Amino acid sequence: MAKLKVGILISGRGSNMAALIAAARAPDYPAEIAVVVSNVASAAGVETAKEAGVPTAVVPHKQFPDRESFDRVVSAELEKHGVGLVALAGFMRIQSPWFAMRWKDRIINIHPSLLPAFPGLRVQQQAIDAGVRISGCTVHFVTPELDSGPTIAQAAVPVLADDTADTLAVRILRQEHLLYPLVVRWFAEGRLTVRGAQVTVTGVPRGATLLFSPDP
Ligand code: GRF
Repeated sequence: MAKLKVGILISGRGSNMAALIAAARAPDYPAEIAVVVSNVASAAGVETAKEAGVPTAVVPHKQFPDRESFDRVVSAELEKHGVGLVALAGFMRIQSPWFAMRWKDRIINIHPSLLPAFPGLRVQQQAIDAGVRISGCTVHFVTPELDSGPTIAQAAVPVLADDTADTLAVRILRQEHLLYPLVVRWFAEGRLTVRGAQVTVTGVPRGATLLFSPDP
């Protein structure tokens, strides 16, 4: 069967992108990374993608008068590569409603907190400041509202007494790199159904969805 073509949007380091590229190398992985698009020319992730032999495109957002005209060029880039799923991976642009509608139910994001807690930026510090004992990451479908949209999967990690934003970020990132490839696999295998705010995942063996990770 033809593999699902995934387009990844990045703005920076691209470690989640790299995790998806690595997962897609396995012959039995049902998706391939068709293109990586960055809005930042100097993003480290662009180099990483090139080294991995993945096609890249840079679309600098500053060259566009508004969000939608930028989004239309990004969208054309994705279409050119036959993309069937868009995965945001540290992409620091808010999507226009047009983009969210264009890719409705075919665009996902990963966020380093257990949404709806701590949307936005500096989320690890937000979690520490709030004194929570558990945080983690969330993969969700993208809607026009920032860091919202139907939750697909979450992984949890403990927040330790001596954590800084950096140590917590590393612990969460380890889970992100496992969770994102898993969710892309589920999407490619047609296991996800969205109904309103709820996503059902069908046919996943018991245990595979048990993502709470008490052992960091
Ligand atoms: C990750 O923590 C992701 O959850 C958030 O931005 C960060 C991107 O890191 N959306 P990377 O570029 O994937 O290394």
